[in-house]
Amino acid sequence: MTQQRILSGIQPTGDLHLGNYLGAIRNWVDIQESYDSFLFMADLHAITVPHDPSKLAENTYKVAAMYLACGIDLNHATIFVQSHVPAHAELAWLFMCITPLNWLDDMVQFKEKAIKQGEAVAAGLLTYPVLQAADIMLYEPDKVPVGEDQKQHLELTRDIVNSFNHRFGKPKQPVLKLPEPMIRAEGARVMSLTDGTKKMSKSDLSDLSRINLLDPPDLIQTKIKKCKTDPIKGLTFGDPERPECNNLLTLYMLMSGKSKDEVAAECAEMGWGQFKPLLTEATIAHLKPIQDKYYAIMNEPGYLESVLKDGKEKAEAIANPTLLKVKKAMGYSISV
Ligand code: TYM
Repeated sequence: MTQQRILSGIQPTGDLHLGNYLGAIRNWVDIQESYDSFLFMADLHAITVPHDPSKLAENTYKVAAMYLACGIDLNHATIFVQSHVPAHAELAWLFMCITPLNWLDDMVQFKEKAIKQGEAVAAGLLTYPVLQAADIMLYEPDKVPVGEDQKQHLELTRDIVNSFNHRFGKPKQPVLKLPEPMIRAEGARVMSLTDGTKKMSKSDLSDLSRINLLDPPDLIQTKIKKCKTDPIKGLTFGDPERPECNNLLTLYMLMSGKSKDEVAAECAEMGWGQFKPLLTEATIAHLKPIQDKYYAIMNEPGYLESVLKDGKEKAEAIANPTLLKVKKAMGYSISV
């Protein structure tokens, strides 16, 4: 029996943090033996906000190295760069022409990012979820493992696919297969260290708001020491009045590998002064092997190039036939 396929990606727009790891990469690693995985660096998405051309390629390589450092295994997964597969941009255009404009105004991420951009909002920031739909549908994955913040984009993808099949498929013979989001219960929404009601994000102006996967131990210690808490003694999960407490206990659970019950029992009587060193130690210990592997990969000349060259070939072998199928269904002549 052929394995089901998963597809996911991350924008190479800055240092990856615990949210990216716990919401996405860790899950890809945990399930990779059961799926055929296609994982990419979304470098076409990275230019929807102003970017530094001297850093784009380097950041893309860094994300690829981080996928491998976190445990992605090339026996199960294909890692590739979005812009190396031109079919992404072409399918995005085809989808853009069947996507009603008002479906895009509703996207929460667009509104959040557009506010930060002021006057200079690029059209690409609005149409970005359509490119994401194209990224996904070129590979017709069964599942798309992402963090909670991508749910709305996956719903839009499903709407675009349904609309496409309705217009260009035959009754009971859809052209494209509907993908399912895969969002894990724990870690799907890691919150900022400086405000437990806001998501941890690469674009937060304060570096103290996040733990980056490459932060050295002393910086992790400083960030946890300074992170926002509350004046209540006794630490519990799930209290809506204590968002920081829930977030930090969840981080401790995921970094230490302990169960929720174990953490709840261990921390029930604790104060923050006792808890913070535990979280610090667990986080440093969890990230150490990832950091060591990352630097080893970055120091191996030519290795990432060969991984990405191979990835491009494997990705195109799936993406190009899908693009042809879509173009044929839309009425393009594809025989030349
Ligand atoms: P990006 O680069 O913002 O985030 C990459 C992944 O990390 C997850 N994530 C989080 N999870 C938990 N808590 C957080 N605080 C947190 N912050 C980020 C995201 O949910 C995501 O899974 N549009 C996408 C990239 C993309 C994509 C795709 C993803 C482009 N095409 C196709 C899947 C399929 C993005 O900007 O992710």
